[in-house]
Amino acid sequence: MSHQDKLWGGRFQEPTDQFVERFTASVLFDQRMYSQDIRGSMAHAEMLFQVGILSQEEWNAIAEGLTQIKAEIESGQFEWRVDLEDVHMNIEARLTDRIGIAGKKLHTGRSRNDQVATDIRLYMRDSLDAIRGLLQRLMQTLLDRAEEEAATIMPGFTHLQVAQPVTFGHHLMAWFEMIWRDDERLIDVRRRINRMPLGSAALAGTSYPIDRVMTARLLGFDAICENSLDAVSDRDFAIEFCSAASLMMMHLSRMAEELVLWSSSQFAFVELPDRFCTGSSIMPQKKNPDVPELLRGKTGRVYGHLVSLLTLMKSQPLAYNKDNQEDKEPLFDTVDTLQGCLRAMSDMVPHLQPDRQRMRSAALQGYATATDLADYLVRKNLPFRDAHEVVGKIVHFCIEQNLELTDLTVAQFQQFHKDIGSDIYHVLALEGSVSLRNHVGGTAPAQVREAVRRARVRLSESAGN
Ligand code: ARG
Repeated sequence: MSHQDKLWGGRFQEPTDQFVERFTASVLFDQRMYSQDIRGSMAHAEMLFQVGILSQEEWNAIAEGLTQIKAEIESGQFEWRVDLEDVHMNIEARLTDRIGIAGKKLHTGRSRNDQVATDIRLYMRDSLDAIRGLLQRLMQTLLDRAEEEAATIMPGFTHLQVAQPVTFGHHLMAWFEMIWRDDERLIDVRRRINRMPLGSAALAGTSYPIDRVMTARLLGFDAICENSLDAVSDRDFAIEFCSAASLMMMHLSRMAEELVLWSSSQFAFVELPDRFCTGSSIMPQKKNPDVPELLRGKTGRVYGHLVSLLTLMKSQPLAYNKDNQEDKEPLFDTVDTLQGCLRAMSDMVPHLQPDRQRMRSAALQGYATATDLADYLVRKNLPFRDAHEVVGKIVHFCIEQNLELTDLTVAQFQQFHKDIGSDIYHVLALEGSVSLRNHVGGTAPAQVREAVRRARVRLSESAGN
């Protein structure tokens, strides 16, 4: 293409260097915003018609032309041209091809700077809503599983050492809380995404009598960006989204790590369905937890995208700079990665098969009810620190003799403290231990069921937000 054919070719004396043309083009990745670009152009043209800048015929021609271009793109007939640089100029050039002079009027009162900023916000809004849908699904799944496993006993860990018995349902509800906060953050990020830059034009606004509020209403924006310089250069919302996404990936990686641990033969707490695992080409016995491992691994690239965007924006003078074109690939990859990982996790959770017997015996093995024994002595009026000391000695004895706490006779217990009676066995039982933690936020099965019930209410109220 010669420079005279470029949409901005007027002031140029020689064609763009071919390498530079490819180097500066974004169409290979920003074409994914085609529907947002067309939506934005439709609203802009309708506003131009309403305020009298375009005639009825021109507006009709633009609307029809854009609708046909959308169909061309979706049926794979549209030819994306690198020499036309980006999604905006590809669509605009095609419009002029189709409808002639009216197509050239579409760009009145706007610039690619406010156009691209608007497109990304529309794209992010759509993506965020889709991601929230996936979060809702994952949360529903976790609630269903937590209810089923409300009374399933497993060891709870600190320092990855057996600490106290908990219920599997309680553990799943801890995962739920992480995801719940992720969703809260997205609701908040959406408020700042959903403001409209369009009408800021290149940087200073436009001399045409545009009605920005009308365009914003047509596009479903909550508000317009107040300052034209800020509007074309602001990418805070992209950074905020990547930051919320990084936290989500961190949460998913923690869950994934637990699945990797639990599905190992050392733990064997849960079995992952075969269809989420792969084998080894050399070791026939292997069943590898590839999906959770990949979730864990993909966290890194999302953190990387957050740092890319922060660095991209650092020290940029007002207003738009070409640097900003670099915002798209990190953002798009964040959206794709997150969607894939959320889907994988929600597909896995319903099919985790817990080995309840195995979880129970793991909780029995690690002296997990030692704290309950200390609490028992406190109820017999011993100060907690002294009780802690007595129980420490009992545990030491058991380790040396290779015994569990429940293997000791009352007489043996009484050698450590005279007040220990035969009611101690109830205290040492796992079921007794968990049911005693019967307050809001505790692990007792009754509390887990209550937590699930409250969470269902929260979830149904937030779905409409
Ligand atoms: N492709 C560009 C981007 O992604 C669109 C805006 C270009 N504006 C400009 N003045 N060169 O940022």
